[in-house]
Amino acid sequence: RKPVWLDCDPGHDDAIAILLAVHLPDIQLLGVSTVHGNTTAECTKLNAIRLLHAFGAPGEIDVYPGAIRPLIRIPRADPEIHGIDGLGGVQGLPTPLDEAIQGRLARSKYLKAVEGIARAVRETWNEGAGEKVHLIATGPLTNIALFLSVYPELLPGIEQIYFMGGGVGVGNRSAVAEFNILCDPEAAQIVLDAPIPKIMIPLNVTHTAIFTRGLHDRLLSPFSFGSVASSDVLPPAESPLRHTLSTLLSFFAETYKSTFGFHSGPPLHDVLTLAFVSRPDLFTYTRYRVDVELGSLHTVGETVVDAWNYRKMDDSWGPTGKNCLVAESVNVPEFFELFFEAVHNCDKI
Ligand code: BDR
Ligand code: CA
Repeated sequence: RKPVWLDCDPGHDDAIAILLAVHLPDIQLLGVSTVHGNTTAECTKLNAIRLLHAFGAPGEIDVYPGAIRPLIRIPRADPEIHGIDGLGGVQGLPTPLDEAIQGRLARSKYLKAVEGIARAVRETWNEGAGEKVHLIATGPLTNIALFLSVYPELLPGIEQIYFMGGGVGVGNRSAVAEFNILCDPEAAQIVLDAPIPKIMIPLNVTHTAIFTRGLHDRLLSPFSFGSVASSDVLPPAESPLRHTLSTLLSFFAETYKSTFGFHSGPPLHDVLTLAFVSRPDLFTYTRYRVDVELGSLHTVGETVVDAWNYRKMDDSWGPTGKNCLVAESVNVPEFFELFFEAVHNCDKI
């Protein structure tokens, strides 16, 4: 199994990323860290704890809270998409008052994202005697930038950084800036300059992974294939898990419709990072020089992809090189099979 660390800001799509991290059989989840982003850092920490518990994650998988704000900018959040607490509309999750959640919260109190990632890499990689860690980020890149800056000696212990963020000529929180990158563009540039392999999964790809009404029907009718006859009323959920996921995805569908005019369903952005670790063969990608626009009024937060290698960058992953793989397509039906595999595995416990 591939050892994975997940840094996230749950968030509806982050929530489903957590589900896959816990329930894809070829993934060994080492830990979860949280960051400001879709909502406050306090809420993303609590949400990650509630989700891990609801998804039956082993008790030893702790949540390591991280940066409460970007490196230099003012924190933003995205209540329009995710609700005030980051998981708007969700039903069936344990509340902060539940004993199990209190226990996990107490354990998280003295943990820190950067130290948690460092310990996981140190123990798993074991100075070359063990395995490298797959480092996933599905929120703003503040924690990852801090980890890379504080523990440069552990970089060889990272197999690859996988991040959902950016766009090639397209944005969702400005004409050209994607939310995760726009939240902390300086952190994103630090990550892009790190001399280790990276894969960016941009909006151009995530916007093809739409959770359609047909898929929603299948979630609620686990023994059917494809779309059940459409009706305006969803059938009752077959399991508490499916009910929770349905409420999550319904809210996300509504906000994507009202905010961005997505009528066929919401894109499952963050979930693609887990799919990439598990099944890289489902993706096409090309290696480019990628930088983040840090200065300008109209394009701050844009991921600038040098498609023709205009700058004649070399083959290193660092500041002088073609520093990042950029995903260009995903096999959407196969991706959703992974989603349903994780749902099925979680349902069994
Ligand atoms: C990204 O921003 C958030 O809304 C999602 O969780 C995802 O990580 C998409 O731009
Ligand atoms: Ca996210």
